[in-house]
Amino acid sequence: MLRFLTAGESHGPALTVVIEGLPSGLGVDRTALDADLRRRQGGYGRGQRMKIESDAVEILGGVRHGRTLGSPVTLLIRNRDFDNWRDIMSPDPQPAEAKARKALKHPRPGHADLAGALKFLKDDLREVLERASARETAARVAAGALAKSLLGASGIEIRSHVIRIGAAVVEGSAQPWGDLGAIEESPVRCADARVAEAMIAEIDAAKKVGDSVGGEFEVVARGLPPGLGSFTQWDRRLDGRVAQALMSIPAVKAVSVGGGFEAGMTPGSRFHDEILYEDGAGVVRPTNRAGGLEGGVTNGEELRARAVVKPIPTLMRPLRSIDMRSKEPRTASVERSDTCVVPAAGVVGEAMIALVLADAMLEKFGGDSLDEYLGHLEATRSQWRAFLARRPQEA
Ligand SMILES: Cc1cc2nc3c(=O)[nH]c(=O)nc-3n(C[C@H](O)[C@H](O)[C@H](O)COP(=O)(O)O)c2cc1C
Repeated sequence: MLRFLTAGESHGPALTVVIEGLPSGLGVDRTALDADLRRRQGGYGRGQRMKIESDAVEILGGVRHGRTLGSPVTLLIRNRDFDNWRDIMSPDPQPAEAKARKALKHPRPGHADLAGALKFLKDDLREVLERASARETAARVAAGALAKSLLGASGIEIRSHVIRIGAAVVEGSAQPWGDLGAIEESPVRCADARVAEAMIAEIDAAKKVGDSVGGEFEVVARGLPPGLGSFTQWDRRLDGRVAQALMSIPAVKAVSVGGGFEAGMTPGSRFHDEILYEDGAGVVRPTNRAGGLEGGVTNGEELRARAVVKPIPTLMRPLRSIDMRSKEPRTASVERSDTCVVPAAGVVGEAMIALVLADAMLEKFGGDSLDEYLGHLEATRSQWRAFLARRPQEA
């Protein structure tokens, strides 16, 4: 129902994204879009480029006077660094010298460099990394901010927080929603101030020796209606769609929903969430180890999904590699790089989850205009209320 395509290179003129499927009449607040872009650029452990780029969205289509028209929305984010790359990344033919100046010949282990070179038969790895770079996630975050606007109008909110950086980890069960409200005040976007200090120390230690460090973040969505996604076909299961969305983020290597990896080591009697009913409150689940999804369908609880982020592959003390032409041993090329991107990856995770949830909401409630969509949502809500209020003799 909702689809989007991004385009653009890391040091090209701009990134663009086209989002199709949003209903007309949805408010578009450019400051909210820019705020999310800024959050993606922040976080302790980011490098020099974040000081050069200060991302801002330009809206090229699909919006009039602050509201969507129902046509595809086109967003553009200029690469401010392009000024330094004009001839190198020019779409028009240039002297060979311009290409040679920033050529990359020694593939970096952990990047797309080698796989992309073999795929496209290129020995200038620049032509691989320019698109494989996680700079592309800025466009996803802009699209995700529009999805959040639809979710916000539907009473759904999304937050993310960092659980682990290296050996510094928030122990124990899921952090309550209320603890995540001031997350942006933490330089590592961690809700536990003591663990945050340990995380900063992990990043400093890695940076000092030219290394990098990974970790884990969690995305939480609340206010979700039950019934999003479906168990009737494998590709309609929302857990699968959530997993793909998070796994598609560069550097994410594992994804879990709710209790996730704990599920394999906990007896069923201590894993599953019991079902109670209270007059007034309706169905009550005392725990949420399912992470809001049972059978690939939302069950009305908070959706909680986690992603593990690998240590970023560009190392200031590079690993062994080869020269793509001579095949002689070399150390991997070094591009300007961050030390840790886990806090930023969490912001990208929010955007990806927002896009998946907005798609699932439009699938269930549909509508060409926001009013029509909200009418469908409200009608279904009252059906649920009536359904749950029934007593056996009426069933
Ligand atoms: C927000 C964000 C920023 C990133 N920045 C860097 C970086 O500065 N240097 C780097 O080597 N990798 C960075 N990465 C990770 C690489 O883009 C990623 O590891 C690489 O493209 C290979 O993809 P894969 O790890 O999914 O296999 C970043 C990832 C994210 C999500």
